[in-house]
Amino acid sequence: MERPARSFPLDGSAGSGKLGGPDGWASLQALDASALAPALRTRLAEEWARDALFEHASVGSFDRFSLHLLAVAAPPSLVEEAHEAAIDEILHARLCFALASAFAGEPLGPGPLPLDGDVLGRLDLPSIAAAAVTEGCVGETIASLEAATALERATVPAVREALQQIADDEARHAELAWRFVRWALDSGGPAARAAIERAFRDALDAPRPPLPDEDPLVEGLAAHGRMSARQKGLNLEEGLVEVVEPAARALLGW
Ligand SMILES: [Fe+2]
Ligand SMILES: [Fe+2]
Repeated sequence: MERPARSFPLDGSAGSGKLGGPDGWASLQALDASALAPALRTRLAEEWARDALFEHASVGSFDRFSLHLLAVAAPPSLVEEAHEAAIDEILHARLCFALASAFAGEPLGPGPLPLDGDVLGRLDLPSIAAAAVTEGCVGETIASLEAATALERATVPAVREALQQIADDEARHAELAWRFVRWALDSGGPAARAAIERAFRDALDAPRPPLPDEDPLVEGLAAHGRMSARQKGLNLEEGLVEVVEPAARALLGW
């Protein structure tokens, strides 16, 4: 079987890299996919590999967040949790690579993560807090809801186990972001508040693409822990309206 991920380079997506050699990333036990229809199996390999690369990049995101926390003299509990979250993401990447490899029928792992350019970004508190709003309060919150919904619909035990771990951890990661932003709001003065408010408004007001038609493979995908593009769009809409916006209102006193 051809390596599925060669066809999706993930340009501009959270700095994610491309697939490379397994080098131990696919070593966790997964499942036997040999009885699945080839079209579904190929899709599952592609989709789990894509997530695996995101999880691999998330290790670096939390490493960067840890440095951001040090740069703004954040409390030790936040620094500690950011480091723990980076370790969580290593497990998420391994779980996803194990599943992707089982569906692909060959071991898959990450290629080099591109770290060229200004990886750390601006290091003032307003900029760091705004990044935490976008990536954490919004991104991790939506990701945790997505993992929880995927878990609800998944029926395959190895997939459910992986999603349970990921959903629990991502919910904690989202809470960490909200706690940091609360701290930034309390200690960062008017400039931090303005940057945080702007980042929330940008995320909540961003035009959302129209929902695509339902995927013909939707049921097989769901059983194996994957949401269709349509379901992801619905999850995003619902997560922004029902979770992120009310939490942002409560945080900011809007
Ligand atoms: Fe993760
Ligand atoms: Fe995460």
